[in-house]
Amino acid sequence: MQTKSILERDIEEILLNEKCISKRIKEIAVQIAKDYENKDFIMVGVLNGAAIFYINLIMELDIPLEMNFIRVSSYGKGVRSSGNIRMVYDLEADITNKDVLIVEDIIDSGNTLYALKELFCQRGAKTVRCCCLLDKKERREVMVEADYVGFNVPDKFLVGYGLDYAGKYRNLKFVGTLKPEIYNK
Ligand code: IMP
Ligand code: MG
Repeated sequence: MQTKSILERDIEEILLNEKCISKRIKEIAVQIAKDYENKDFIMVGVLNGAAIFYINLIMELDIPLEMNFIRVSSYGKGVRSSGNIRMVYDLEADITNKDVLIVEDIIDSGNTLYALKELFCQRGAKTVRCCCLLDKKERREVMVEADYVGFNVPDKFLVGYGLDYAGKYRNLKFVGTLKPEIYNK
């Protein structure tokens, strides 16, 4: 029988707790609602990482919006971006002339966001902006910035609130770091 929680067993440090994340999401939602009122607004969540942030964010938005998802992959089991973006699941919506807001969990090298912005512009979106929960600014490899940023975070590998390590830990209510021994398993 397992007695310890994931927190006790695998987490080294909590960087952002549930309360501070939800407070920040409410603040960002106010800004987004102002900026996208009366627009042909579509929010594109980048699966799987952005799923939890996306759901919590849209529930704070009291304006008409269209939900859609895309899934791209650049990471295998490792903890660094490879720079190669692979389309796993494409958008269903036509984004021609729409105001697109990409919702990401974290911007790291910037490769994913850069590729998505290019793709959506090519497809005829009216505007393409990005909202991310976390931003690792110092890790940028390409010139790209998010328009709405939840938190700037240090160059550490993070899990929780949608972020995974080897497919796990997405369901944690906080953002934290893993104990070093987890990577050596
Ligand atoms: P980028 O293309 O390097 O900016 O990476 C973006 C994607 O890498 C994010 O959407 C995440 O899925 C993943 N990623 C980057 N940093 C982390 C991290 O610290 N923990 C978990 N996933 C991460
Ligand atoms: Mg992601």
